[in-house]
Amino acid sequence: MRTWVDKDTCIACGACGACAPDVYDYDEDGIAFVILDDNAGTAIIPEEFHDDVQDAMEGCPTDSIKVVED
Ligand code: F3S
Repeated sequence: MRTWVDKDTCIACGACGACAPDVYDYDEDGIAFVILDDNAGTAIIPEEFHDDVQDAMEGCPTDSIKVVED
């Protein structure tokens, strides 16, 4: 699994970091990004975080959390 945030559509609602605090953080404007690879979408997400990432994706009001299963 890999994930990234579409920073153009993120409205800084803060839900993703609440669901997956080990995966998502926020920049100085409150826009989310992936901690592991600075939002490059290249890092393989450890299995222990998959449920959290799934919750974040489903909870994002603007569908800004992108997830691919490799
Ligand atoms: Fe942004 Fe969605 Fe997270 S709006 S702060 S990517 S839950």
